[in-house]
Amino acid sequence: MVMVSATEMINKAHEGHYAIGAFNINNLEWTKAILAAAQEANSPVMLGVSEGAAKYMCGFQQVVDMVKNVHDSMGITVPVALHLDHGSYEGAKACIEAGFTSVMFDGSHYDFEENFEKSKEIVALAHSKGVSVECEVGGIGGSEDGITSNGELADPQECKKIADLGIDFLAAGIGNIHGVYPADWKGLSFDRLGEINDAVNGKPLVLHGGSGIPFEQTSKAIDLGVSKINVNTELQLVFAEATRKYIEEGKDQVKKGYDPRKLLKPGADAITAKVVEMMKAFGSYGKA
Ligand code: 13P
Repeated sequence: MVMVSATEMINKAHEGHYAIGAFNINNLEWTKAILAAAQEANSPVMLGVSEGAAKYMCGFQQVVDMVKNVHDSMGITVPVALHLDHGSYEGAKACIEAGFTSVMFDGSHYDFEENFEKSKEIVALAHSKGVSVECEVGGIGGSEDGITSNGELADPQECKKIADLGIDFLAAGIGNIHGVYPADWKGLSFDRLGEINDAVNGKPLVLHGGSGIPFEQTSKAIDLGVSKINVNTELQLVFAEATRKYIEEGKDQVKKGYDPRKLLKPGADAITAKVVEMMKAFGSYGKA
């Protein structure tokens, strides 16, 4: 099966009241581990790629070629979308050309009019090539890849205007933040999420900052229209923890345990296990 746009998988999730996980990839190990989880869970999946991670992986074209080749050589049969995460205007255009099947244009740092105009342009370009589009209203808190935002509650009327551009799914700030949640985090604003959901006429919503949100809150968010949940930090944490344990136990020092194929395996397996767990919690397990 070839990689697909995210439109159909997200619309099905929205109708079926579950969410698709969009898991960020950083390299070959992440790509293999997440695809293996999706296949094991028989779940559709989105692979998110930030512009910083794409640069690390030697560019958008390299990402497209690597993911396609890994996907094909692993014989993946569940629906997979390759998605630009928090794309700039130029980045979104470049990814549409390079063969991404889905893009996010994040114009939330522009004033609303400029965000609106640029979003409109990206939607037309993406849809002319069968690529799905996510746009954003209201900043997501925290810092990701050098882009820092204080986390706002998105304005429901602005959400409606951007949703009405014909985008496929909308990211809206509802008190969520990227990275590890601080101990005094107030939780998601379900009041605001409900108002946004009422305003956007059934447009699927996206929850960024999915790492570390208690599953009761992600379930409630799904009930209020969230159909895509982004996860990055949590996979980095489980990878680092499993790798540290392997080294602290001295396993890199016996039986050629320093071979990268051995050294990176516990971390990669931890990613696969975490993704399967999240697919169960988000309800996409078995939905391919
Ligand atoms: P976390 O790193 O907090 O999981 O956020 C991921 C994200 O929202 C990617 O856009």
